[in-house]
Amino acid sequence: MAQPLREHWSSRLGFILAAAGSAIGLGTLWKFPSVVGEHGGGFFVFIYLVFTLFIGIPLFIGELALGRHAQRGAVGIFASISGERSFWKTVGWLGVASSFLILSYYCVVAGWGLNYFMMSINQFYEAHSADQISNIFQILYTSGDISIFWAFIFLLITLGVVYQGIRKGIEFWSRILMISLFILLVALACYSVTLDGFKEAVRFILVPSPGGFKPSGILDALGLSFFTLSLAQGVLLTYGSYLRPSEDLPKTALIVGSMVMLVSVLVVMMIFPVIFTFNLSPSGGAGLVFETLPVLFAQLPGAMLLSTLFFALFTFTALTSAVALLEVISANFIDLFGWSRHKAVLLSTGAAFVVSIPSALAGSQDLFKSWLPIYGLNFFGTVDSLVSVWLLPLGGFLTALYIGWHIDKAMIRKEFLSGTKWVSLFSIWFFLIKWVAPIAIVLIFLQKGGFINIDKFFLAVP
Ligand code: PHE
Repeated sequence: MAQPLREHWSSRLGFILAAAGSAIGLGTLWKFPSVVGEHGGGFFVFIYLVFTLFIGIPLFIGELALGRHAQRGAVGIFASISGERSFWKTVGWLGVASSFLILSYYCVVAGWGLNYFMMSINQFYEAHSADQISNIFQILYTSGDISIFWAFIFLLITLGVVYQGIRKGIEFWSRILMISLFILLVALACYSVTLDGFKEAVRFILVPSPGGFKPSGILDALGLSFFTLSLAQGVLLTYGSYLRPSEDLPKTALIVGSMVMLVSVLVVMMIFPVIFTFNLSPSGGAGLVFETLPVLFAQLPGAMLLSTLFFALFTFTALTSAVALLEVISANFIDLFGWSRHKAVLLSTGAAFVVSIPSALAGSQDLFKSWLPIYGLNFFGTVDSLVSVWLLPLGGFLTALYIGWHIDKAMIRKEFLSGTKWVSLFSIWFFLIKWVAPIAIVLIFLQKGGFINIDKFFLAVP
């Protein structure tokens, strides 16, 4: 039964901005450009967009529909549809666990962003040479105490937003942050357009170049699509539960999905011209943002302004995502254990901070010295890969199976159609959820588990 007292989003725009705020984050700003670079550009972007349209957005609709139907948090949804003892509750817990693990290292990366923001304001560029600017990330990365400090500050800010409750807190802040984000992005992208490397960057990003593209990248594109859309992390299930029956789910999902795709493309358009202008190779992960860009900013006119704007944007987007992650974790404790909102939010943040410590210390190796030689990745990398390689695809797979095969089709049909005029879309959507999504995700697992090698398979075909 719906719980009449549950808070709802005050307007459609508020919800759209909050959902987009959760989706657009470090995945878009930090992961997306580096993965695009690794995979040779255009063709990868194209495949990412196709997957987002045909698998990501349908799952996005599915999660919102489940949340709205049950009017509960991620775990409660499965309990209320399938019963308290149902296996499917695991899917909800999986989402909560993924959100928790992501938050634990997300705050470390976001904290680095805060650190760079402060550095930019403090005239860092005037006082240092290019070498010093580039080395500063190594110093930061190996200074565990500073990383912990900034992660803590970032978590405090996140706590402040979620503590105020759904409407006043998340919605209010998301609105301000998202609008600022768009203004900043467009300003920076306009700046990039004037650089010499712009043409080359456009070619790199938009024109498919199958020569530089490996078929196994197809699966990476699918994983990235899940990460950037916030799928399988309980976020959309929880946000859906705050939606009214009159809300148009397919339309909302298409709008948010398009915003994510637009911003992803804008971000690479902003970063790659800079890389091509200075003949750098698109390096991956943390290095791209923290090591490459500040050095480049320093060589450009308006370095301080440019860098301050960029890292403000970086921290804003991370904040709106972290707010969503903390909301999921807290909402489940509120629903399941009857905790007060304040207690749930405080305890979740405290626990996330404790688990963030080994990630913040990963660079300095002050803790778990032998982690890297034993596992091949430091603590930070291990948590990241555990979530993005295994937990998210598993969660998405189970959600697709749940909607497509387990629950009553008439029920999900009713939920899909409530509030929308796009009646004929239902059968296409259902087909994508029932067949396309599960099969694609199984392929990810087989590839990642080493059971199939898609590269070889493609190469064998003349
Ligand atoms: N989609 C976010 C990103 O791209 C990550 C995220 C997932 C944030 C789930 C919130 C919830 O960074």
